[in-house]
Amino acid sequence: MNEETHARRKLLDRIREDRLVTRRDYLRMLVTVSGGLLAGTAAVASGIFRRHGDGPAPAKKVADAVAPGESFTFSYPGEDDPAIGVRLADGSLVAYSSVCTHLACAVLWIKDSGNLECPCHDGVFDVGSGEVLAGPPPRPLPRIRLDERSDGIYATGVTL
Ligand code: FES
Repeated sequence: MNEETHARRKLLDRIREDRLVTRRDYLRMLVTVSGGLLAGTAAVASGIFRRHGDGPAPAKKVADAVAPGESFTFSYPGEDDPAIGVRLADGSLVAYSSVCTHLACAVLWIKDSGNLECPCHDGVFDVGSGEVLAGPPPRPLPRIRLDERSDGIYATGVTL
């Protein structure tokens, strides 16, 4: 074997080795990304990213007196969980997370339409149930249970 053929063979061997390393790296990256996606999917499915947990939470006074047709805002269950309450025309009270289930804009009480509305993409929620009436939101608003006591209105839990 002459020197030129030997050098050429060595070069081809190096190129082959480089390809193997590249494939190995590609497979390692594929496994890492797949594992990350699997872990993320499991975390979302288990609900650990929910801002409003389902179930009872410590009672918290959120308002004093509210007239029919009027709304009030508060934070519940945590200080970073904005919520909105409305006293309906029949005197009953309802409250929901005010974080839109589409892209998390603030939901507002629109007295004229009688609905909760999100101005970002025209999402509309039924004030009586929190269900989506129109627009892109994929889920109803989480409902906050209220209890009217002699000294004011208390939030007592969240229902998803
Ligand atoms: S963020 Fe509310 S409709 Fe898009």
